[in-house]
Amino acid sequence: MASKCTGAGGGGASRYLVLLLALLMASSCIASPSAAPAPPPAEATIPRSTRPPALILFGDSIVDSGNNNGLTTSMVRCNFAPYGQDFPPGHNATGRFSNGKIVGDILATSMGLKQYVPAYLGTELSDWDLLTGVSFASGGCGFDPLTSELASVLTMDDQLDMFEEYKGKLERIAGAQRAAYIVSTSLYLVVTGSDDLANTYFTTPFRRDYDLESYIQYIVQCATDFIKKLYGMGARRLSIAGAPPIGCMPSQRTLAGGHDRGCVALYNQAAVLYNAALEKEIKLLNGSAELPGSVLKYIDLYTPLLDMMQRPAAYGFEVANLGCCGTGLFEVTLTCNSYTADACRDPSKFLFWDTYHLTETGYNILMAKIIDRYGLW
Ligand SMILES: *[C@@H]1O[C@H](CO)[C@@H](O)[C@H](O)[C@H]1NC(C)=O
Ligand SMILES: *[C@@H]1O[C@H](CO)[C@@H](O)[C@H](O)[C@H]1NC(C)=O
Repeated sequence: MASKCTGAGGGGASRYLVLLLALLMASSCIASPSAAPAPPPAEATIPRSTRPPALILFGDSIVDSGNNNGLTTSMVRCNFAPYGQDFPPGHNATGRFSNGKIVGDILATSMGLKQYVPAYLGTELSDWDLLTGVSFASGGCGFDPLTSELASVLTMDDQLDMFEEYKGKLERIAGAQRAAYIVSTSLYLVVTGSDDLANTYFTTPFRRDYDLESYIQYIVQCATDFIKKLYGMGARRLSIAGAPPIGCMPSQRTLAGGHDRGCVALYNQAAVLYNAALEKEIKLLNGSAELPGSVLKYIDLYTPLLDMMQRPAAYGFEVANLGCCGTGLFEVTLTCNSYTADACRDPSKFLFWDTYHLTETGYNILMAKIIDRYGLW
């Protein structure tokens, strides 16, 4: 048997079983037969000048605005101080993995859509919230379903299930025709994959049956499956982010960077290899006969972030190798809390908020560079 890109789901015990099975199984990823792609929308080509009616987010903590709050068995939560201390309305810890706004909020604001992209789960959403876009992302998730299972968070397939439900809500609010138009013209931003490499592959023993090259092939195959499924559900305009320089994350410096906490060269090389394979695949799928009418973008996070890590002073940062929370050496999610770890005095001087996520200032600068390079949509 081969391990597929589709998680088995289920509770704690079955997760454990899944994990055991995953260990026993052979290693190639077979594309699961997905539903036949939906026909292209009536508006066959979307004029580039038309602003997408909604921004819809899939992926991990970079774009999770609180979906994990209800997952009390998971370590990957942050709905408590000091998270959110600089979040504008009420300084709330909403479940965003930073001190303030995150990537989706910043992009939605720049697009002129709205200030904040709410989480789909656990919040009271207005019709307007649904019409202008939500986040299905789950911190700790990966394209590899095992990554989500190890962290007890939502898989990418779980996120697609929620999207299916969301489409039903859109139809009830806006009618079938308008809902189909929103689905086909909205911008979909997908940010995940770094936890597959940083956590599942390099930190846990559970994918040791793969060598790096074959694991990268596997997660790119999972990414491709995800893109095809999302297209099959009606999405056309997809921006898919690559991995950041995971070897220079404060957490990975502490774990594997040796005595002086240098960047872990092997981890960065893995991100570079993964990004090249992912970009190649996205270019093949973009507007192809298999996905007609699709407009796919590969978003390079690696280059701008590496520059910010290597030349922090050029961006106004004083610290780029420690998180702002606590000692900055290991605090992330549950270990970054106001009982044991206070925030640094001035987060705007830190690139990193905790050992894995940027400060709001960091995200603002990163997004400005990305928008400058790729446009808003
Ligand atoms: C945010 O915090 C304020 C109090 O500071 C509270 O009144 C409000 O309900 C909170 N909002 C959310 C979304 O939690
Ligand atoms: C995808 O195709 C569009 C044209 O439809 C092009 O502008 C864009 O650069 C392509 N994306 C990639 C990643 O090659």
